Amino acid sequence: MRSFNTVQKSLSQLNALRFLALSMLAIVPLYAQTAPATATKSAGAQMSIDVSKIVSPVSPTLYGMMTEEINHAFDGGLYAELLQNRTFRSTWLGFEHWDLVRNGGAAAEWQLDKANGPSAALPQSVKLTVQTASAGNEAGISSSGYWGIPLHARTAYKGSFYAKAEDAGIGPVTARLINDKTGIALAEAHVDLKAGAWSRYEYTLTTGSIATSSTNHLELTVAHPGSIWLQLVSLMPPTYHDTPNGNRTDLMERMAGLHPTFLRLPGGNYLEGDTLQDWYNWKATIGPLVDRPGHQAPWTYWSTDGLGLLEFLEWCEDLKIEPVLAVYAGYALKGDHINPGKDLEPFVQSAVDEVEYVTGDASTKWGAERAKDGHPAPFPLHYIEIGNEDWFDKSGSYDARFGQIAKALRKAYPQYKLIATTPVKEPQGEEPDVVDDHYYKAPGEMMDFVHHYDKAPRTGPKIFVGEWASMSGVPTPNFGSALGDAAWMTSMERNSDLIVMASYAPLLVNINPGGMQWSPDLIGYDALGSYVSPSYYAQALFAGHLGDGTPESSITGAGDRFFYSATVDSKTHILHLKLVNASTADQALEIDVQGGVKARAASITSLHASTYEETNSMTDPGRIAPKMSSETIVGDIWKHTVPPLTIQVIDLPLK
Ligand code: AHR
Repeated sequence: MRSFNTVQKSLSQLNALRFLALSMLAIVPLYAQTAPATATKSAGAQMSIDVSKIVSPVSPTLYGMMTEEINHAFDGGLYAELLQNRTFRSTWLGFEHWDLVRNGGAAAEWQLDKANGPSAALPQSVKLTVQTASAGNEAGISSSGYWGIPLHARTAYKGSFYAKAEDAGIGPVTARLINDKTGIALAEAHVDLKAGAWSRYEYTLTTGSIATSSTNHLELTVAHPGSIWLQLVSLMPPTYHDTPNGNRTDLMERMAGLHPTFLRLPGGNYLEGDTLQDWYNWKATIGPLVDRPGHQAPWTYWSTDGLGLLEFLEWCEDLKIEPVLAVYAGYALKGDHINPGKDLEPFVQSAVDEVEYVTGDASTKWGAERAKDGHPAPFPLHYIEIGNEDWFDKSGSYDARFGQIAKALRKAYPQYKLIATTPVKEPQGEEPDVVDDHYYKAPGEMMDFVHHYDKAPRTGPKIFVGEWASMSGVPTPNFGSALGDAAWMTSMERNSDLIVMASYAPLLVNINPGGMQWSPDLIGYDALGSYVSPSYYAQALFAGHLGDGTPESSITGAGDRFFYSATVDSKTHILHLKLVNASTADQALEIDVQGGVKARAASITSLHASTYEETNSMTDPGRIAPKMSSETIVGDIWKHTVPPLTIQVIDLPLK
């Protein structure tokens, strides 16, 4: 919720300052560019681990991802569409991100035609009226894309548009990709028109040996007088796995690198919307694009819903992970709610139908609809979340809303686990299986919070930490955040008998001016490329070395900014040690591993920075990155030192 987020953000800025001030007071000035060889050594700590005594399981689904339309995560981000405002929504600024083209002596005008569109979902269009045009003096429209149109050499860009022409003689339509700086056309295609009703047209623009750039625009022009109506103009680059209407490859690969096991979708606040009208009505996000109206999203901009429910599910399928499906539960961010009972019934039915769309076979109504949309096979599902952050609903209606939706879902699908977004005080026989907790904290606060679940009761619902982040760094987390995140992950691993799933938020940010609504965010990008934050690396390392059991362990004598997690993988017989030294001094350790074969070699992956503020960026993407090393272990006790401001993930083979 924005007002909450603003408070959170200013609090977190205060906390960041406090964190910085405390760290400056604590020991030594913040490190300069390199860690000094003379760094203070803290007294050695004794760590003891008995790998033969597994005290609790580690959830195999602990690490996943959370997503929603924020920071141009989908439109202008993951969803590969290159044209912004492709459906010609008109504001007081006119058709934003589009321009009228009148080359040479061409004369033309354009206007919104509210009465002419290709579908009920898109009932309006742009009408281009050309008074004068000829070859070399064309008239038409141009799109500046999302902060430019990225183009690469020898690449095919597939386009389409809907058009209605009174007379086909206004055409053909010429599509050109033009460099903003030189005016040179980098690719060109011609599309013949049919007179009469609305039709969908396709074009392909293939570049030659061009230099990669994002300072390009698209022009669609005609060279004859007449009128033409245009709607849903699209241009797609090659996508991940060449999926039509698919995703950006680099961002899909970045996400795969996190080793996630699930995707919580579609939000977040995006599920709810600002008002009751803006809820995530999934039925309006499926089927042909021309039948998707789009909707106002809560993070200030319009969502095309080009990345709709089926695309979310295919995104999961591509990454071989499962959806954690959040269904709308009748609360809007500005405080309204749908009354439980009769008023809520249509939304209960929508939730039941949605699960059928995801999981039903083609003999079911909504399973058949999914098959018609191109995906006959049902998707796997284990968890359904009811709402988002319903602790904001001060009316107290969530207990009854949860109960009503849970009852219907359990009746239709008893096999799935249900997640509540806040503890349900009067469950009316519908206890949640899991409760979703969210934490956004300054790094120092996150470190102070690591014992939160140690003594939490194990008898009630399990915990899903569905949103969490240490909040320092803009647009992406700095190393201070990565340390807070790593400290927090050690605590989630230790408590993973209770915490079955966790997902950092937000995941994605378009770093262009105006692209971001929230910081920090895990992965940054612009039109041409992407980079990952130190926090991303910390998560990727933790998730890539998860283990399945927590052995008995203890530590004495460590500094209060030192955190660790020990897990054992019973299949590979590897002890995974995560060591987090968030202080500015060395942390010496004497590690005694008992209960199994003594490891003789340690593979160490280290993530280190010189200061809490050091970070990665689009211009310096590799500044902080994991580095591999190894140590030979001599004797029974391994003497190992973790350098200051360092996260280490260590594999000790036990066989
Ligand atoms: O992650 C950003 C926002 O924070 C989410 O949309 C919301 O659930 C939380 O308040």
